[in-house]
Amino acid sequence: MDVTDKLFAGSIPEIYNRLLVPLIFEPYANDLAERIARTEPENVLETAAGTGVLTRAIVSRLPAQTRVVATDLNQPMLDHAAAKQPQPDRIAWRQADALALPFKNQEFDVVACQFGVMFFPDKIKGFSEARRVLTPRGHFFFNVWDRIGNNEFADIVTSSLARLFPQDPPMFMARTPHGYHDVGKIRNELGAAGFTDISAETVDHRSKAASPRDVAVAYCQGTPLRTEIETRDASLLEKATEIAADALAQRFGNGPIDGLIRAHVITATN
Ligand SMILES: C[S@@+](CC[C@H](N)C(=O)[O-])C[C@H]1O[C@@H](n2cnc3c(N)ncnc32)[C@H](O)[C@@H]1O
Repeated sequence: MDVTDKLFAGSIPEIYNRLLVPLIFEPYANDLAERIARTEPENVLETAAGTGVLTRAIVSRLPAQTRVVATDLNQPMLDHAAAKQPQPDRIAWRQADALALPFKNQEFDVVACQFGVMFFPDKIKGFSEARRVLTPRGHFFFNVWDRIGNNEFADIVTSSLARLFPQDPPMFMARTPHGYHDVGKIRNELGAAGFTDISAETVDHRSKAASPRDVAVAYCQGTPLRTEIETRDASLLEKATEIAADALAQRFGNGPIDGLIRAHVITATN
């Protein structure tokens, strides 16, 4: 993983929340929040909470007395999340690395992480930390994207940018968000962290946008792919976005578009 892959700051949080969250994260947040609510937790910890789409979905399904703590490595993502929260008193926002959680053993009966574990430089360490703060009968819920070839918009954006930077294509999307999709490997690494009861389900949705341009801006400007493009040539960010939008329009047309998104939803208990 490149060092900039986990840097969500600057203009990224606003564009991420405005365009990428409705495009790909909302349906999976509702899915995960439903699973969490069925376990009737009293204390929930969310790691890698980003701009809070899952946090909002969790809070809307749980009673007011449920304690919800939402954490993320990048404070700018949490600042954005806190500003968007309609019920600010319901959630404690706290900057924290999921690999070194500032909480006591067995403090939560759910740990939830939506599309965050792929960013952990040491997956077993991150899973062990989740397990450490869980009660003995607690649940760890998370999801990961399937391979990039099964996520059409991310795949087309990535291959289109390889034409602009043929010597050194920006591979953030394939390398990190779509780089941890082997369910057998995930099961093994959860087992190495001490989890014994693990289930996995593959869940498909359609990713919908008003235009190819919205999708191109979401990926090229609202994720760390932006930093990867700017590191190569900052003056080419707009050109890269146009190339991605053209490639999406060629495949899906110029009006409202939709494409396949596929993820694996994992539940692990002791
Ligand atoms: C793709 S975003 C997902 C955010 C949010 N869960 C959502 O569904 O929109 C990945 C998030 O992981 C966070 N992150 C990366 N490394 C992390 C770490 N070691 N510990 C906690 N959060 C981390 C980033 O700051 C970013 O907000």
